[in-house]
Amino acid sequence: MIGPARVRVALANGGHDVLVGRGLLTGLGGLLTRLGQFRRIHLFEDVGVPKALRDVAASSIDARLTRTEYGLDEATKSMASLERMLQDLASAGLERGDLAVVVGGGILGDVAGLAAGLHRRGVGVVQCPTTLLSMVDASVGGKTGVNLAVLADPTRVLLKNAVGMFHQPSLVVADVETLVSLPDRAFRCGLAECIKHAVIAGTETGGMLDLDALSSCLPMGPTTDAERLVSLVRENIGLKAAVVAGDEQELAQGAAPGRRALNLGHTFAHAIEGCEGVRVEIEGRLVHPSHGEAVGIGLIASARLGEAVGLTPPGLADKIQAVVARAGLPVHLVEVPDIGDLMSAMRQDKKSSGGVLRLVVPTREGVSMLDDPGDSALAGAWRHVRGR
Ligand code: GLY
Repeated sequence: MIGPARVRVALANGGHDVLVGRGLLTGLGGLLTRLGQFRRIHLFEDVGVPKALRDVAASSIDARLTRTEYGLDEATKSMASLERMLQDLASAGLERGDLAVVVGGGILGDVAGLAAGLHRRGVGVVQCPTTLLSMVDASVGGKTGVNLAVLADPTRVLLKNAVGMFHQPSLVVADVETLVSLPDRAFRCGLAECIKHAVIAGTETGGMLDLDALSSCLPMGPTTDAERLVSLVRENIGLKAAVVAGDEQELAQGAAPGRRALNLGHTFAHAIEGCEGVRVEIEGRLVHPSHGEAVGIGLIASARLGEAVGLTPPGLADKIQAVVARAGLPVHLVEVPDIGDLMSAMRQDKKSSGGVLRLVVPTREGVSMLDDPGDSALAGAWRHVRGR
């Protein structure tokens, strides 16, 4: 076992710990006792995590335990899945003071976290992220949600995380051992969020939050040395924890980005994910991009946009593109039915406010807000990431 290293997420209600190490899930029950004794615990499990590991984690828990397993994707990150999870919690008889524990990736964590927040107006939840993406981003900060498919004449658009709430976990347990069985593609998707954090950190930081240092560590994969993975996860969680502590519910007003900094690249990414006809090339095949792949391209597009309006220093977009490529992530959209579809999907993203599209762009020091730069600048950024 390595660790656990502890990162504190300091919040108005006192906050919670994030534990990072290798082999933590085998002693999950012991870690939960840090929070108290629970009468009932319901375990939401991701079918993507080896059953043997889930069984070991479950057997370490000393409480009346119920378990359900899910294999969700963006299409099933839906109200229907949320309803099933609420039924799980009701059938398990969970009451206030009991606990839901999630062992899985970011999609499961988001839906199960929402179910925990809604069941009996809220039961505690412990997130045990098992993908790099959920370790460094989704499991920390309390955002939960499901997608909503809406008709935006004439196409159907998937509004990402359109229904959700803030429901902070009581504890996050990030066991890098779970990354060993992660497909390479899924691992790379997590690297997109690490690159995002390095851009947000700006030029004054070191370690894995320095864009050059991160780049020199790439490529990384599920079998990278565990100590290095623990450092990567710990440093990224540290950055995220600091941002969330400063603006827990993304309420910062005006020019200060607050938690909105973490949306860097995401308005572009959500538009990419929501337009079904978009394709990227992954391992020689044309596929619809997953979240991390869309974020990688979104980071490049937001830097291109920032350069065009003079907020991003010249050359940073090229540098970000080079790091995204070194991570093994796509840097272009190969098939784009119509840039107009992407632009209208962007305008429907929940990150627009009062009809004004609010974007985040990189600067030398980190990031800055950019209010609706207009269709021509947006189309220019999209053209940069559209394949030739
Ligand atoms: N993933 C962005 C946030 O947690 O705010």
